[in-house]
Amino acid sequence: MRQAGRYLPEYRAVRGKAGGFLDLVFTPELAAEVTLQPVRRFGFNAAILFSDILVVPHALGQQVGFAAGEGPQLDPIEDRRGFERLAAEIDHDVLAPVYETIGIVKENLDPGIALLGFCGGPWTVASYMIAGRGTPDQAPARLFAYRDPAGFAVLLDVLVEASASYLVRQLRAGADAVQIFDTWAGILPAEEFDRWCVEPTGQIVARVRAEVPGAKIIGFPRGAGTLLTRYVDKVAVDAVGLDWMFDRAFAREHIQSRMPVQGNLDPLVLVAGGTALDRAVDAVLEAFAAGPFIFNLGHGILPETPIGHVEQMLARVRKR
Ligand code: CP3
Repeated sequence: MRQAGRYLPEYRAVRGKAGGFLDLVFTPELAAEVTLQPVRRFGFNAAILFSDILVVPHALGQQVGFAAGEGPQLDPIEDRRGFERLAAEIDHDVLAPVYETIGIVKENLDPGIALLGFCGGPWTVASYMIAGRGTPDQAPARLFAYRDPAGFAVLLDVLVEASASYLVRQLRAGADAVQIFDTWAGILPAEEFDRWCVEPTGQIVARVRAEVPGAKIIGFPRGAGTLLTRYVDKVAVDAVGLDWMFDRAFAREHIQSRMPVQGNLDPLVLVAGGTALDRAVDAVLEAFAAGPFIFNLGHGILPETPIGHVEQMLARVRKR
């Protein structure tokens, strides 16, 4: 999940220096610095590359911007012609600074600390490409897929190829594992979940492993609920992230019995702090600590999170 960001003064300082968000992402020295900041401050066991899932549409030629405080803004794709104008393959020259960032981070990271690369799930990335922004339910992409499933499938095929080759480059540049963030998986009906989340993600995993045998891959279809069992049946990931809504008893029985799980503290309880935070940390540990498990949040850290609460959480986890 996100580690860097606006809750850290040292991030805000570098962000201010870089100019725009994408300038920060594409300036290797600065992107490496903000990747390392949370590890330096908190001593985490893993670092996550500082980038964004929307660099893939950017490298396909779509206009992508991040206005301060407003989230991503893309030139929306209204119909099949809209994405036929984009490149069929990603331009790795555009993404070269990201690979360079990975090299710098690896040089500066204790070898015992893993560096995670990542990309978005094709469904989630497509949903931003079509809506041009985040919406409450990504309805524009769902409508597109209902109206023109064949056209939507073409777009997802492009994203499968692009994402797989992007992850392969990240692994070759030195990422120890990669995570596929399908943030909007949970709004899909079951059949669409299979078609637009499970199948394309499975293809990415197969393609990455064909080029990098043994590549370690973590899946995160946020909001999948009980459909997560289908995901772990069909997508050959090594571990899955659990969002904070996920029923822990179900996860222990049906998911953790088969592969390691990562999660799933509610990012909002980290904002709240106090005894609510202590209780929530204990509940996560009690549910999962006996099996293969990575303690994490159930989604990205919120900008209003007090640093003291992160310290409180870490002290409690490390006491166990
Ligand atoms: O912690 C890290 O350094 C990891 C880097 C990272 C970012 N985005 C940086 C970022 C990762 C792993 C992501 C993933 C991402 N980006 C996802 C999937 C995971 C998730 O959080 O759902 C999605 C859907 C995006 C698209 C995106 N980027 C959105 C919706 C936003 C705006 C929301 C927000 O928090 O402001 C972004 C901007 C963004 N990407 C920020 C960061 C640190 C915030 C901007 C800033 O702090 O300057």
